Amino acid sequence: MCGIVGYVGRENCTDVLIDALSKLEYRGYDSAGIAVFENGKIRVEKAKGRLQNLDEKMNLEGRPFGNCGIGHTRWATHGEPSHINSHPHSGRRVTLVHNGIIENYMELKAFLEGKGYHFESQTDTETVAKLIDYYYQDDPLEALNKALPQVRGAYALAILFEGFPDRLYAVRKESPLIVGLGCGGENFVASDIPAILKYTNRYYLLEQDEVALVTAGQVVVTDLAGNPIEKQEQVADWDIDAAEKGGFAHFMLKEIHEQPKAFRNTISPRIRDGAIQFENGLDDVLRAAKRLHVVACGTAMHAGIVGKYLIESLARVPVDVDLASEFRYRNPILEKEDLAVIISQSGETADTLAALRLAKSQGIRTLAIVNVVGSSIAREADYVLYTWAGPEIAVASTKAYTVQLAVMYLLAFQLGRLRGQLDEAAYANYLTELMQTPEKIEKLLSQSGAIANLAVDYREAQNMFFIGRGLDYALSQEGSLKLKEISYIYSEAYAAGELKHGTISLIVEGIPVVALATQRDLLEKMISNVREVRARGAKVLLFCFEGTQVSADLANHVIYLPQGSDLFAPLLSIVPLQLFAYHIAEQRGCDVDKPRNLAKSVTVE
Ligand code: G6P
Repeated sequence: MCGIVGYVGRENCTDVLIDALSKLEYRGYDSAGIAVFENGKIRVEKAKGRLQNLDEKMNLEGRPFGNCGIGHTRWATHGEPSHINSHPHSGRRVTLVHNGIIENYMELKAFLEGKGYHFESQTDTETVAKLIDYYYQDDPLEALNKALPQVRGAYALAILFEGFPDRLYAVRKESPLIVGLGCGGENFVASDIPAILKYTNRYYLLEQDEVALVTAGQVVVTDLAGNPIEKQEQVADWDIDAAEKGGFAHFMLKEIHEQPKAFRNTISPRIRDGAIQFENGLDDVLRAAKRLHVVACGTAMHAGIVGKYLIESLARVPVDVDLASEFRYRNPILEKEDLAVIISQSGETADTLAALRLAKSQGIRTLAIVNVVGSSIAREADYVLYTWAGPEIAVASTKAYTVQLAVMYLLAFQLGRLRGQLDEAAYANYLTELMQTPEKIEKLLSQSGAIANLAVDYREAQNMFFIGRGLDYALSQEGSLKLKEISYIYSEAYAAGELKHGTISLIVEGIPVVALATQRDLLEKMISNVREVRARGAKVLLFCFEGTQVSADLANHVIYLPQGSDLFAPLLSIVPLQLFAYHIAEQRGCDVDKPRNLAKSVTVE
């Protein structure tokens, strides 16, 4: 999704803005632009495509020089990716960049056309720039105060006002925005922490309709009417290395390899004296909950599906899993004792945030499982369990998923114990096995080279199927998503027992089928399903535990998981599945970290 940066200080801001924007490239975008005060005038530069295009264009035309400016990477919503539609957008004396969506932009546009404004782009953003401009006499805050109440929708804005060449203004509603506090003589604005991490880890989180006036020497935050607001300084504990590739070819590969550490960081602080110790009195809520509603999008929703299998089987508590975009509009039945479990890496996904608000508005308690500290979902939920994956830069989520699963296991064990479904011995054994998982993940990571070799046999596929039963089916949905989102091979996950109710008609000679067969209770049935696809010519890549007897003609390739109990298989299978998707995509020459059309953080509906 779109990224915002702003800089005011002693440096040439063009270089700082480009550098900061490069740290937001991972969010997904299709054009970029900056605006810089150059000799008191606002100069705008934009280019379609990668940030590099903008950089090269400015090198040819002469780079803007100034100490105060704003920048943007755009992920098209209103209007195609093009030079004209790229941000910044301007009125006569106001230039801004915007994240979010202005819902009443047609109405505002008609109003402004009536006042003599002419529009160049198809964007909703241009209307806000011109609306603020319309009200701008000599007082920027007054212009914001008059314009913004007329704007419906979501916005994070960084704004330059002609006449104030040493100031940035930042304001937000719904879409996130932070003000980075530099170490003397410079300050920043950004939509996301990694953008400014190289310069500072101290920042203010702007709340709804707070306005920041940012100069090189100070940051003043007020409401729209100008009343001062005291802000609490936040400190990001992500170090700069976390946002660099550190010798790996891609962020995705680096993040796959960070999983043992992320896993330990997520579970270790919560297991003390042989028991799970959740923060903030969560046990009482878990004890009381009659039903769980897990709500999330994408990969996070897939973590919820595994969670459902675990929680229902270990704790006998019913769990519904919903896509946030469906949940929020399907009028779900929510009872007073229910608990909504909201899962989100970024903590900013628009549909997930709306689902959280819906649950709250209906009076049920909410628990957020979130990776980004201080994000909107984390702040608004009643209870938060942070996943400690550190920043995830690759668009395809890997380590964030694994730690979401880790929290699902913790929840299932704790619910099982609190509800009297798990005795002490079973609980203790499960915790021991959970703590052994990072070592097993390390072992699987050492097979990356072997999986790269195996990927050669699958990389030409046009379609692929993932099948499994029980927890394997739950996990296969994430394995399939990983492959399709980065390699562009069409893939589908199917419950193995359901295959013959339609999809088997697509199984023809040479079609790859990734068969997960780790659930020992279901092994015979699963092997029968694998035989059905083998009989129709499928090329089978089988996953099973070491020691499983597999006849030579059952599969073309086998990936063996380190010994463990069935329940823990998803935490292991996911690693070779991620590596499989990664190596195929890399060998196909795909842009692994920034797949086409996708965005890391989807802050629009
Ligand atoms: C986007 C990302 C996915 C992610 C989903 C939910 O689609 O590309 O990787 O799973 O959003 O994001 P969240 O930040 O809420 O987990």
